[in-house]
Amino acid sequence: MAGKAETWRDGLLARLQAQYQAQFPRSGQAHARALRSLVDGGSHPQRLYDPYAFRAVAAQGARLRDLDGHDIVDYWQGHYANILGHNPPVVTEPLAAALQGGWGLQTGLPEEAESDLAELLLRQTGDERARFTTAGSLATMYAIMLARAYTGRLLVLKIGGGWHGAHPLAIRGVRYGAQGLGGVDSLGVPDDGVAQTLVTRFNDLDALHVAFRRYGDSIACFIIEPCLGNGGFIMADPEYLRAARELTQRHGALLVIDEIITGFRFAAGGAQRLFGVQGDLSTYGKVIGGGMPLSAVVGRAEVMDLASKSSSKRVLFNGGTFSAHPASLLAAKMNLQHLAENAAQIYPRLGELGASLRAGIERAFADHGVLARCTGGPNEAVTASSLIQVHFPYREDACLDCPEMVWDPQQSDTVLREQVLRLGLVLRGVNVSHGLGAISTAHSEADLQHTLEAFDWIAGQIAEARA
Ligand SMILES: Cc1ncc(COP(=O)(O)O)c(C=O)c1O
Repeated sequence: MAGKAETWRDGLLARLQAQYQAQFPRSGQAHARALRSLVDGGSHPQRLYDPYAFRAVAAQGARLRDLDGHDIVDYWQGHYANILGHNPPVVTEPLAAALQGGWGLQTGLPEEAESDLAELLLRQTGDERARFTTAGSLATMYAIMLARAYTGRLLVLKIGGGWHGAHPLAIRGVRYGAQGLGGVDSLGVPDDGVAQTLVTRFNDLDALHVAFRRYGDSIACFIIEPCLGNGGFIMADPEYLRAARELTQRHGALLVIDEIITGFRFAAGGAQRLFGVQGDLSTYGKVIGGGMPLSAVVGRAEVMDLASKSSSKRVLFNGGTFSAHPASLLAAKMNLQHLAENAAQIYPRLGELGASLRAGIERAFADHGVLARCTGGPNEAVTASSLIQVHFPYREDACLDCPEMVWDPQQSDTVLREQVLRLGLVLRGVNVSHGLGAISTAHSEADLQHTLEAFDWIAGQIAEARA
């Protein structure tokens, strides 16, 4: 089926690229310059698409302004970090005042704000101990090291399609390839390290039971996201997450819940609480930083304290010149305080906008006879979700409950989602990733209406191209 799609789709893509180059010339020049000094012209592949990414010059609320003067509704929102939109005054004003007053850049000293933030975070997540670092990747790496030290075991079980950052302990089973979602995705990673990572299929209870039956007594931890990010914004089945909790406990393994995307996204705390499950360790990042680089590992004191200087079997959770950076602590504190105090308004509202946008997008495609499905939708545990990805499965009855369904090019048209949709929408003033992204509190009804008009336009283009 993928083969038949290629001709019309390539023709449409070429037309969209030509329009894009005409509409975004100054970004094209900026990209040509960047290529001379930066690998592929930037520092993160997710930001770099063909023919080139537009360059933003200002970002406020739901909107971006680019070098060529376009006003763009943004759903990428800083890798889904900006739940209050770009540069929210609730964060920028105290930050600006602090900097003016002589506090905010690096001190390299313990900060009062560090305890303020740790107390707030632990109160909202129900965990016992926290340590801050700078990136989600580092947080999951340290969490796995802690789990290995605590259990005295090496095996790490992860989800095919789960992304926990580009470090050697979690770099297996990330991208769809010749081995489906089980391969190793990077050179430069030691084979014996990768061999200690097992990959299982998301939401597949039987596969999970088999993995624990075979390897349970050697598994240090099962690391899992409550809603897969890279894997397609697919929610964990609550029964699956409960089984993960039960099986890890039964086999003496730790459950590491990666809340880098889900933390404070669906509620003012972890998504795990909504599922009625508590990880032994959890990782938070993105949203908690309020737009600044900050991540955390939290969990049971007895496990976390293995990082303590006084622990006899110590985990070197040590690095980080910029760990708990003052500006990040302040931004995170203002942000989390705001989310906690206004949770009763914020999360149901985001959920309503999510539901309305998902329905509107599917309707826009259906009106043009194009089969499209949105993921990120609520389930019985997460009742309000502001995450959306748009997929083009080949079959009407496709069940998008695992990453294979949205990354296998035989199951879904991934080029349509990743390239055609992205360019088509940005031509109409809407910036998306994997079909859409994350709604923030700054998105208005008018932004959503504008977005749906853009979807209607690209759906029409797709229908026309393949007619
Ligand atoms: C679920 C999850 N875990 C970990 C990471 C890594 O976080 P960072 O990019 O901050 O290193 C990401 C990043 O996208 C993520 O989505």
